[in-house]
Amino acid sequence: MEKNKLTKKGDSYFPTKEFQKRAWVNNKRIYKEALKNPIKFWEGLAKELFWQKKWKKIFIHQPPYFKWFVNGKINITQNALDKNLKQRRNKVALIWEPEPMEERQRVFTYYDLFREVNKLANAFKKIGVKKGARVGIYLPMIPEVIISMLACVRIGAVHAVVFSAFSPKALQVRLQDTEAKILITADGYYRRGKLVNLKQNADEGVKETKVEKVVVVKRAGNEINFQPDRDYWYQDLIKNQNDWCQAESMDSEDLLFILYTSGSTGKPKGCVHTCGGYTVQAKLTAKWIFDLKEDDIFWSMADVGWVTGHTYSCYGPLLCGATYIIFEGAPDWPAPDRWCQIIEKYGVTTFYTAPTAIRMFEKYGSEFPRKYKLNTLQVLGSVGEPIDEAAWQWYFKEVGKGKCPLVDTWWQTETGGILITSLPGIGPFKPSFTGLPFPGTKFDIFDDKGKSCSSNKPGNLVMLPPFAPGLLRGIYKNPEKYLETYWNQYGKKVYFTSDGAYKDKNGLIRIVGRVDDAIKVAGHRITTGELESAVALHPDVTECAVVGAADEIKGEVPMVFAVSKTKKPEEQIKTEIISQIRKEIGPIAQPKEVYLVKDLPKTRSGKIMRRILRRLFTGEELGDLSTLANPESMEEIKCKLK
Ligand code: WT7
Repeated sequence: MEKNKLTKKGDSYFPTKEFQKRAWVNNKRIYKEALKNPIKFWEGLAKELFWQKKWKKIFIHQPPYFKWFVNGKINITQNALDKNLKQRRNKVALIWEPEPMEERQRVFTYYDLFREVNKLANAFKKIGVKKGARVGIYLPMIPEVIISMLACVRIGAVHAVVFSAFSPKALQVRLQDTEAKILITADGYYRRGKLVNLKQNADEGVKETKVEKVVVVKRAGNEINFQPDRDYWYQDLIKNQNDWCQAESMDSEDLLFILYTSGSTGKPKGCVHTCGGYTVQAKLTAKWIFDLKEDDIFWSMADVGWVTGHTYSCYGPLLCGATYIIFEGAPDWPAPDRWCQIIEKYGVTTFYTAPTAIRMFEKYGSEFPRKYKLNTLQVLGSVGEPIDEAAWQWYFKEVGKGKCPLVDTWWQTETGGILITSLPGIGPFKPSFTGLPFPGTKFDIFDDKGKSCSSNKPGNLVMLPPFAPGLLRGIYKNPEKYLETYWNQYGKKVYFTSDGAYKDKNGLIRIVGRVDDAIKVAGHRITTGELESAVALHPDVTECAVVGAADEIKGEVPMVFAVSKTKKPEEQIKTEIISQIRKEIGPIAQPKEVYLVKDLPKTRSGKIMRRILRRLFTGEELGDLSTLANPESMEEIKCKLK
């Protein structure tokens, strides 16, 4: 056995002595110590940050609401940028890798980034962006997306980033909810060699919203429809701006950003994150879980349109003074080894991706990672959906060469940062188990009655007080939904995650999957309710049901059942339904199959039995159909599936 390989005990791996010695956290005593007084524990962590004014009280709980670092004043940019100017002024903060191979990377030192952010912050002020104002950001993975987010928080504006591959309609719904008056977008960007005209989507998406000004980053140089009374070129706007802008003083509980996640119907939920708690959690989770050190090169593959991109492709690494990479393109474009090439090119030490990508890399073949020098890698991470044992082993052996701790990180848009995982300097790394709750947080697994489940017994994953400081504080403009979604199942003092899970005898948590109607399509969370709302908009569809089915690469994929009473050819309706979904949500929500059926299975009270439809794809017995109002519906459906 090679010395630098992880040791295996039973079914788990443990960090090497060497790794352990250098790790930020390396003693499992930390878990016990943190739980003795979690509130004090988080207070200690908060002291690693620069606060303009210290908090008066650490934690207040008024169920279902809670506050952290009460009355403290903080600005995340002073921690992410100004603070790093002392020791790391000319250290590289951000490396941008464009999709086209012939284009050069762009590199920003901490000082560069600081000046760019300040200039844009001043430019925002000039066009009337005030503290508390919501700003829509609809940008691809280019440096300006990071600069825009930071410039917003510099002046206390609240950003709402919308994934650039979301459709104009999806953008519109989000802009309407935030009532943003400003949108930042780009002319276009590259995806799999194709130029995407983003500005055209943005023009469409701002219709019937309160957006008055659109700032356009020149990225691809494509022709756009420029409206001189409304649009500004980003590059013109920042010209001649002063590169110093006073950081706004933000209350710990002031809004930092809003990020939408799929709602149970067509309307997405705006998760509200605040300045103090989020910042503390973003910094400490990035530092401890990825073990970020001065010479690390961190690459998280997630797009900033998702929470992973917020916390680990923007705030986390900068708060740690790290060097990190953002990548514009797809990891397998123009060839399946692009991701290996990037790791080799920059000597990436810390790599964070999703099981979907890992399974895709595996399918392409081990010859790709074997062809490249991946020996700089030290820590591997996985996020977004359960990682199956086979994908785990492949990632661990073929990418990490058995030498890298593999952290399987569980969290949600709502939690702001990672909350369950093994720590790289402690372990254990047990395939398909995420690990233990982050020090200072309490999770449990409850049965339906709210009783704690014994080991190996599956139940619902819940978080108990004091909640992690980065947990959402509300759903934007929708307190009822906040209460109903998170604080209803087990009362106002227990956060309901909507995940099913169980613990092993050592308390390691294994996530089974969502217990609500959300499915994880290539790691993206989409509710079947949202998909059904989109399908139902098709004029010829009278009824529909969407369920998730297992997929070898994507984890899960949507399957659509629709009842349509027209004479149009089936193929035409199917194509129209697919384009309807792409129009309402975007290509990520594309169903794998659309089945046109005469009837959907229903109970006598008229409820669609999605559970039975789901079983069609699991190979399970369909069960007793005699309780259905229309058992014959399933006969027809079974024939369709053959
Ligand atoms: C849901 C949250 C966390 C950022 C990206 C997704 C699932 C997340 C894991 C993991 C098993 C996971 C859960 C969770 N999930 N990480 N390591 N193992 N499942 O954020 O879109 O808000 O989705 O993703 O079901 O509830 P999100």
